[in-house]
Amino acid sequence: MRIPIIAGNWKMHKAISEARTLASEIVQKVGDVREVQVVLCPPFTALYAVAETIKGSSVELGGQNCHYESKGAYTGEVAPEFLTDMGCRYVIIGHSERRQYFKEDDQLLNRKLKKAMAVGLIPIFCIGETLEERKKEQTFDVLRKQVTNGLPGIQADDPSLFVVAYEPVWAIGTGLTATPDQAQEAHRYVRDLLAGLWGTDAAETVRIQYGGSVKPDNAAELMGQPDIDGALVGGASLEADSFAKIVKHK
Ligand code: PGA
Repeated sequence: MRIPIIAGNWKMHKAISEARTLASEIVQKVGDVREVQVVLCPPFTALYAVAETIKGSSVELGGQNCHYESKGAYTGEVAPEFLTDMGCRYVIIGHSERRQYFKEDDQLLNRKLKKAMAVGLIPIFCIGETLEERKKEQTFDVLRKQVTNGLPGIQADDPSLFVVAYEPVWAIGTGLTATPDQAQEAHRYVRDLLAGLWGTDAAETVRIQYGGSVKPDNAAELMGQPDIDGALVGGASLEADSFAKIVKHK
C-alpha cells in the first residue's frame, strides 16, 4: 500500500509573512489529513516560519534543493543538515528548473541524492522529458538516462523513503497536462526501471508523483491511475483553496 504524497512546490514565491498565512490556511483545511501525505516546500527563507506554523499538524516540510556537502566554502548554498535542522523531512532534487537554468546534471544530482539520504531526508527526485524530446519519441530514453545516471550507488534500503516525481517539462507551468494515459505509461516505465535496479518489491513500494499543471479539476483523474501516487504541485499550491482541493481530490 503506497500512501500518496502531495507536495506543494512554492518555487520563488512567498516572503515570510505570506508564507505563514498560506501555511496556516493550508493547515486549517488539510492539517488532519492522514490518508495522503501533505508536504510544503517553501523557499529557504520561509522554512522556519512554515515549520512553526505546521507544528502539531500532519503537514510536513520540504526544501526545494540542497547541496551535496555538509559545510564548506560554497557561497549561497544550503547543506542538507540545515534543512533537517529546520524541520524538513523532504527535499526536492533535480527539479527541471534546476536542471535547465542552473545546469544541474545527473552526476551532480546523484551526489545530492546520496547526501540528502545520508542525513535522513526523503528525496523527491524529479525526472521528465522536454516537448522536443517527446515529439522525437525520446521520452523513454530520457527517463531511462535520468534514472540510470541519477541513481548509481543508491540503495533504497527503505523504498518508502524515496520518492520520484515524473514531471514532463512541457507540462510545467504551461497549463498543458499529460493525459492520464500518457502519465500512467511513463510512471509504469519508471517503476519498471526501478525494478531493474532495486527489485520488484522495492519498485512497487516507491511512490511516483506526477507533476505539471496539476489542478483541482484534473487531480482525481491523474491520481486515479494505478502507478500515480500523488502530485508535485507548483502554481496551484500557491493558493490554499486549490491546493486543499487537490489534496482532497477523492
Ligand atoms: P506547475 O509546477 O504545477 O505550476 O506546473 C509543477 C512543478 O514545477 O513542480
